[in-house]
Amino acid sequence: MKKILLTGGTGYIGSHTAVELIREGFEVVIADDLSNSNIDVLDNIQEISGTRPSFVRLDLRDKKGCQALFAQHAPEAIIHFAAKKAVGESVHQPLLYYDVNLNSLLNLLEQSEKYPVKGIVFSSSCTVYGQPEILPVTELTPFQAAESPYGNTKQICEEILHDNCRSNPNLNAISLRYFNPAGAHPSALIGELPLGVPANLVPFITQTAAGIREELKVFGDDYPTPDGTAIRDYIHVVDLALAHVVAVKRLLENKQKNNYEFFNIGTGKGYSVLEVIRAFEKASGQTLAYRVVERRAGDIVQIYADTSFANSELGWKAERGLEEMMDSAWKWQLKLKK
Ligand code: UD1
Repeated sequence: MKKILLTGGTGYIGSHTAVELIREGFEVVIADDLSNSNIDVLDNIQEISGTRPSFVRLDLRDKKGCQALFAQHAPEAIIHFAAKKAVGESVHQPLLYYDVNLNSLLNLLEQSEKYPVKGIVFSSSCTVYGQPEILPVTELTPFQAAESPYGNTKQICEEILHDNCRSNPNLNAISLRYFNPAGAHPSALIGELPLGVPANLVPFITQTAAGIREELKVFGDDYPTPDGTAIRDYIHVVDLALAHVVAVKRLLENKQKNNYEFFNIGTGKGYSVLEVIRAFEKASGQTLAYRVVERRAGDIVQIYADTSFANSELGWKAERGLEEMMDSAWKWQLKLKK
């Protein structure tokens, strides 16, 4: 059985990917510091997939801990999810973001050179494009200056991977540039678990509908879009998890065209904030309390993916629509409340 290391594997996207990898017959080792996730997630991964992944509690900035992790588990491939990801927080604590996001990757790469690791799949983000001039964005759309320290860490990490692949032909890497992940596993056993007040739209919506938040604030309705609210490409977290399975297989089966590759992982369809609210209301049967307020600093107007390269080259395509995202997110929220 091929052993895959998932850093950040108890987190939102990591846990869904663990389930899909186990289903495909991979052995999953999770390393997570539990700073933004809960150990109980392991029980739920086990309940869905029938297998409990190995678990190592580790902050990847800890070099010695990384050495021990690789000595114990020697993975054949790595999926590196573990990172800090709140745009607003990164503006206030940039050093923390550079420390965690860059040093974790550097330590992983350093260890990867000492073991026969085939490659690494990296959690990148559409944030690397900034506010693009032409939509949809293809993989060749040039990076704009990052809008936040968080976005900058994703750009820098991609550059580190690219440079490292150039100098080390034995190491392979694939960056997956996620658009906006949403939804939860259909079992409602795993999903997004935001600590404190959610910064992201979908968990804020479900918490408002559940009565945990008073109302949703819609950040701006004076954008140059059809209904005035900002547009994003929301992708179901299970589709996103499946993209990781395909990427890992591509590494392990030597199917890469270059030893550093990068793909847009979205649906190709943009939805406005108001469209998301309507889809939620339809899926849940709830009426959502919301109010339009000022634009949020740092938000871009709109972004959505051209996914044709990922579709043709990876043979992967997002299959779940917005309503399925909202339906599963709501079921997950109801489960959390119990
Ligand atoms: C951003 C990043 C994404 C990153 C994610 C992590 C960009 C383009 N995207 O996503 O790469 O992975 O953060 O956190 O930089 N909204 C409201 N009210 C709310 C919350 C959000 O109206 O209470 C609106 C936002 O203004 C935005 C949309 O909903 O238009 C989505 O926001 P959010 O879920 O926070 O994601 P992004 O900011 O797009």
